[in-house]
Amino acid sequence: MHSEIEKVLISEEEIQEKCKEMGAHLTEEYKDRFPLAVGVLKGATPFMADLLKRVEIHLEMDFMDVSSYHGGTRSSGEVKIVKDLDTKVEGRDILIIEDIIDSGLTLSYLVDLFKYRQANSIKVVTLLDKPAGRTAYIKADTIGFEIPDEFVVGYGLDYQEKYRNLPYIGILKPEVYGG
Ligand code: PRP
Ligand code: MN
Ligand code: MG
Repeated sequence: MHSEIEKVLISEEEIQEKCKEMGAHLTEEYKDRFPLAVGVLKGATPFMADLLKRVEIHLEMDFMDVSSYHGGTRSSGEVKIVKDLDTKVEGRDILIIEDIIDSGLTLSYLVDLFKYRQANSIKVVTLLDKPAGRTAYIKADTIGFEIPDEFVVGYGLDYQEKYRNLPYIGILKPEVYGG
């Protein structure tokens, strides 16, 4: 599988170092609170696991799965809930955890949803930010790495459901997706 990767964009070591840094930041930010960490399935799971190990306060974890239809012929995005939270959002400090913000549609939908559900606060932490892809106005509060406009896989990010289990972020060889 590694032979299908053209280049490693962010190494395993760099990711782990960043998780430590971001974890320390969140420990400070949520001191004396009990946030609800919401992982966005499936991409966010490796990052969520590594990041939250570095957060030294009590927190609660839950997951949400949404599907978005964008790109292709659609100009405006449409997001649907596939799996909702088990936890009540009202009055909670919500920390949304994402692997990547691309168009921003997934995240802007979730932020609006949690506002509607009367969260006390909503913050977003993302490992990757690809500003070139943005169509919805949304900004993460904490960003690991800003990346160029390239198709990346690994560490949660898939191409046709593969590569999520790579320990690094890489760029696929164009021949893999017929480019
Ligand atoms: C990917 C990624 C983000 C979202 C970002 O998830 O994990 O959740 O897209 O794109 P956006 O900013 O354009 O909305 P995807 O919907 O592919 O599901 P997955 O996490 O299960 O792969
Ligand atoms: Mn995702
Ligand atoms: Mg995906």
